[in-house]
Amino acid sequence: MVLTTAFVLHVLSGALWTGATLYVVYATLPRATDGTLGRDAFVDAAHRLLMVTRWTGVVLPATGAYMIWRLYTPLEALATTGRGRAVLAMLSLWGVMNGLVELGVLRMRREVDPEVGWGRYMAEGFPIDALDGVGRTPGSARLAAVARPYLLASAGLAVLLLVDAALLAGGVPV
Ligand code: HEM
Repeated sequence: MVLTTAFVLHVLSGALWTGATLYVVYATLPRATDGTLGRDAFVDAAHRLLMVTRWTGVVLPATGAYMIWRLYTPLEALATTGRGRAVLAMLSLWGVMNGLVELGVLRMRREVDPEVGWGRYMAEGFPIDALDGVGRTPGSARLAAVARPYLLASAGLAVLLLVDAALLAGGVPV
């Protein structure tokens, strides 16, 4: 029962996170780049993606670690079986993608607030209140340009994560 609950929370979190990332990249990044989408709307989308990243960033490793404990002990099964290697790939992709989203939104925030430190950024993210009193520049196109490499790479890793999860669901050869 606990394992089933862990699977449900894990899959829901994974779907929410990868889906949110792909949506931001598909629906908001191009419109911010050409200036059709206003700066506040783009910043809000990026901040909400960051919040989804952080909340699921608690649930995914917690449930994933529990699933590893239940399904892959002794732990050498992680290195010696195909499914184990798929799980290690999942863990690695999660770590890199997390870092990319964090850094991408941090780069955006530093465009309007160059002095912001890690502590304040970790506590606040990039709420639209941070734009108060900033004036008209930088606009959405500039913010999209600095976030673009990070967001595109995150979208690529989201696709790889979904492929990895599908291989596990479909039964990776042992
Ligand atoms: C800390 C990072 C993560 C860890 C430690 C982890 C670990 C695991 C483990 C141990 C399983 C069970 C594998 C099995 O059935 O043999 C699993 C399944 C799954 N994971 Fe992750 N995972 C992580 C991140 C993610 C992310 C970011 C996604 C987003 C797509 C994801 C999506 C899934 C899905 C959909 C399944 C179900 C696959 C199945 O049907 O067996 N996981 N994960």
